[in-house]
Amino acid sequence: MCGIVGYLGKNDALPALIDGLKRLEYRGYDSSGVALRLTGGIECVKAVGKIANLEKKLGGKERRADLGIAHTRWATHGEANEINAHPHSDCSGKIWLAHNGIIENYKRLKEELEAKGHIFKSQTDTEVIAHLIEDTHEANPFIAMRKALKMLKGAYAIVFIHEDFPEKIMAAKMGSPLVIGLGDGETIIASDISAIISRAREVIYLDDGEVVEIRKNGLKILDVLGAEISKEPRKIDWDSGEAEKKGFPHFMLKEIFEQPEAILNSVRGRIDSEKGEAIFEEFDAFTETARSAREIAIVACGTAMHAGLVGEYMFEEMAGVPSKVDYASEFRYRTPVIGKDTLLLAISQSGETADTLAALREGKKRGATTLGVVNVLGSTIARELDACVHNRIGLEMSVASTKAFTSQTAIMALLSVYFGRQREMTFAKAKDILNELLLIPEKIKKILELSGEIKKIAEKHIKAKNFLYLGRKYNVATALEGALKLKELSYIHAEGMPSGEMKHGSIALIDDDFPTMFICLKDSVYEKNISNMEEIRCRGGRIIAVATEGDEKIKSVAGDVIYVPETIEPLSPILAAIPLQLFAYHMAVLKGLDVDKPRNLAKSVTVE
Ligand code: F6R
Repeated sequence: MCGIVGYLGKNDALPALIDGLKRLEYRGYDSSGVALRLTGGIECVKAVGKIANLEKKLGGKERRADLGIAHTRWATHGEANEINAHPHSDCSGKIWLAHNGIIENYKRLKEELEAKGHIFKSQTDTEVIAHLIEDTHEANPFIAMRKALKMLKGAYAIVFIHEDFPEKIMAAKMGSPLVIGLGDGETIIASDISAIISRAREVIYLDDGEVVEIRKNGLKILDVLGAEISKEPRKIDWDSGEAEKKGFPHFMLKEIFEQPEAILNSVRGRIDSEKGEAIFEEFDAFTETARSAREIAIVACGTAMHAGLVGEYMFEEMAGVPSKVDYASEFRYRTPVIGKDTLLLAISQSGETADTLAALREGKKRGATTLGVVNVLGSTIARELDACVHNRIGLEMSVASTKAFTSQTAIMALLSVYFGRQREMTFAKAKDILNELLLIPEKIKKILELSGEIKKIAEKHIKAKNFLYLGRKYNVATALEGALKLKELSYIHAEGMPSGEMKHGSIALIDDDFPTMFICLKDSVYEKNISNMEEIRCRGGRIIAVATEGDEKIKSVAGDVIYVPETIEPLSPILAAIPLQLFAYHMAVLKGLDVDKPRNLAKSVTVE
């Protein structure tokens, strides 16, 4: 998704802006641009494709500036070319502006501005904002911006600079994230904290409706009503080294290998083995609400939704609470029947996914208590939830989510104990889950040792154009997640589904060129899965099985077998997901694809 960086300070703005853009690369983009306040005026340079192309266009020429803004664009209106890349300008060329989000009423605004004589250069919705600011004919650009904002409908994070005001960056937030980093004699404003952590240890998160004027000697923040407010900076608890690859060829591989530690961090301090309880101090004010809740409505997108699906099965089977997971993008459109006795559980790594945020707000509107599992502290979702559990897994840089999935699933298990112990879960059952959860990190380490073996299996199947991913019960979610990983990284078409569903249509696809990844563990649905595997095999389908260590029988049905250690059924998706992550990773590397930045994808999807 688009990324914004703005810089004002004692150091050279251009290297700071380029460094910030590079740190936002992981979010996905198709063009970039920078506008710098030089002695002679503002210079804007843009390029299509990678930031390296922008650097090439900048050509190493000395440009001393202490103020500037920069942007990586992920096209929504108009193709990815230099004209549509940000920053955008008004007719006078004095205002330069970068924007994340979507302006829903831009067409009407553009027509009105054109009728007044404004000349547009790009096809973007963003350019409208620059002309609207100009059109206020207001001498003070901060006041002009606030007037222009009143006319916008949609979501935005905006930063802009004005040629006649060389010591100011103006910015506004509505629906898209914006964070201000306070460094040593410098201020950085960005859409994502990762662009800030190398230069600042304190941040201020802007809230919707807030506007800010950044000056050399301080900040002026106004709230939604226009009143000046002071916001307490928060300390950044992430180490800037987390944004580095630490010797791994890709962020994705680094994050796959971080999973044992990530899970330990997620569960640490949340297990009371003596009492057989899960501890969530975050929920202290909601204990009674959680105890008496009639149901749990889980909302999330993509990988987080798959963790939510495991949660749905866990909450019903182990905690006895009616639960349903929804695609967050569907939730508010399908008129969900929820109310005061519903717990809405939002799951999001970034805490900025627009659909999950909209679902959370829908839940609030209908009176539900909103709880959540979020990795990025201070993100919009984290702040809007009634109570938020933090994953504590550090930055996830790879666009393809890995450690977030296993951490979210581990927290689902803890939550099932939390809700279960409030209801009818026995001490023994709870202890069983909690003890096993503590063993999961070591078991993951064993699976990670299989990376080379999994690469060889990937080599065998590298020519396949399609893949089926099958699993049953808890591992339906794993099948969906495995298929998502393969398609997003290797661009191979992959479908995930419950193994029992396959014979209701999809089996027609099976032949020698259409392999199946089958999650078939020694669990309560093992025999059923074996029968489904036989159905595929006798139609000539090739099978790779993810199986439980010691299961020799499976070799008679599957061509390739990847063994994972035994665990209890509800926790098995955590282990079974790891070989699928590694398989997708190796497939993409073998195909020579950009693993950390797959085409068309964005790390955090801040538009609906
Ligand atoms: C897939 C992936 C996405 C995200 C989804 C939700 O690898 O990363 O499917 O899981 O966009 O993102 P968050 O968790 O940030 O809300």
